Amino acid sequence: MDPVITAYVRDPNSFTLEFYLQHGGYEALRKALATTPGQVIDTVKASGLRGRGGAGFPTGMKWQFVPKDSPKPKYICCNADESEPGTFKDHVIMERYPHLLLEGCAIGCYAIGAKVAYIYIRGEFFHVQEVLEFAVQEAYARGYLGKNIFGSGFDCEVFIHRGAGAYEAGEESALLESLEGKRAQPRLRPPFPAVVGLYGCPTAINNVETLANVPLILAKGADWFAAVGPEKNTGPKLYCISGHVKRPGVYETAMNVTLRELIYDYAGGIRDGHQLKAVIPGGSSTPVLLPDQIDAPASFDGLAKAGSMLGSAGTIVMDETTCMVWAAENLLHFYRHESCGKCTPCREGTDWLFKVLRRIERGEGRAADLGLLTNVSNNIAGKTLCPFGDAAVAPVLGTIAKFGAEYEAHIREGKCPLPADWRLS
Ligand SMILES: Cc1cc2nc3c(=O)[nH]c(=O)nc-3n(C[C@H](O)[C@H](O)[C@H](O)COP(=O)(O)O)c2cc1C
Repeated sequence: MDPVITAYVRDPNSFTLEFYLQHGGYEALRKALATTPGQVIDTVKASGLRGRGGAGFPTGMKWQFVPKDSPKPKYICCNADESEPGTFKDHVIMERYPHLLLEGCAIGCYAIGAKVAYIYIRGEFFHVQEVLEFAVQEAYARGYLGKNIFGSGFDCEVFIHRGAGAYEAGEESALLESLEGKRAQPRLRPPFPAVVGLYGCPTAINNVETLANVPLILAKGADWFAAVGPEKNTGPKLYCISGHVKRPGVYETAMNVTLRELIYDYAGGIRDGHQLKAVIPGGSSTPVLLPDQIDAPASFDGLAKAGSMLGSAGTIVMDETTCMVWAAENLLHFYRHESCGKCTPCREGTDWLFKVLRRIERGEGRAADLGLLTNVSNNIAGKTLCPFGDAAVAPVLGTIAKFGAEYEAHIREGKCPLPADWRLS
């Protein structure tokens, strides 16, 4: 399919309001304001849009959960933390086509009865912040944000908030804590944010790509969106492809694309002279797949069926020079550092996992280490307040399941079995 979300991102002026207006910008908001909030939610529901932040939850349903009769203010929080290793799609939208996101935020606010949207951006996104703030100023100046938009009586404020740089701040309840000025640690649920969210008020938290799809749905219709890709996996999708491919990057297509097509057609295939060894399909938190599994559709349901997840669509490709124990150690180095520390299994367990992986990789592994890694992982997964724990153990359990022999060889031989000159190539 031809790109829709990223159709114009290569144009040097794509970030300006002028450019956006020339390409139909803010017409979807005008259209939405001519209907009722309930009709907007129905349209989003009919499109089948599922959240692009990781869990794939239906967006229209999430908006419907926000109580309409609450006397409290309501909020949209756009999750622009984008910190999952292998994931780098949202910043493309924000840097190159920011008004699409702002329009999505405004439509989302109208749908749930909010007047304020916060865009929570990753701590390291200095440039993104500048572009977004410029876009917000332009939108206010021309009346697309602010009071009485299009004379409809609808008011909408958008604030950009840059975090301090923590992966956990992307977890939705930790994001709310951080926005409130506290440490980014998760909340106990229920209550869910739709009912008790930001400042204790009803809140919908949506990913950048999710909200960017909303103006397209309003402009082109729910039927158009629902016809893109397979049933229950509808709409255009951004894929981030990194690792040992010839053309890493962000690619937009429909979700009937297979991992094979993403790797070989879009990203140009594996670098010359090498073969595919493993693919992490949806960001570092999703279980690794083998080369004989890449004919799976890169959709929510297709990857779940293959035993992994679409997650944040961060496809990490590894060739035969990659030591899978090293890959797991590398990721656990990240998770151990990023664990927010609130839940003991995650705080202590990620550190233990990292230490055991490191000693195996250095050739100092013990016979009992594989059992120990599995035991520690099973004592983290499902035992934490947020899914960080499950995310952190996926690289460990996934590589043990698929590359157990490589772990055993490290322990048996007292060294990495891969040729020394392949290391970190
Ligand atoms: C540790 C952790 C980090 C996360 N980071 C992000 C993130 O950076 N961006 C994002 O949209 N969702 C992230 N999520 C998922 C959010 O909690 C939430 O499901 C998502 O923002 C909902 O938006 P959606 O329904 O549009 O997908 C993260 C989840 C976890 C457990």
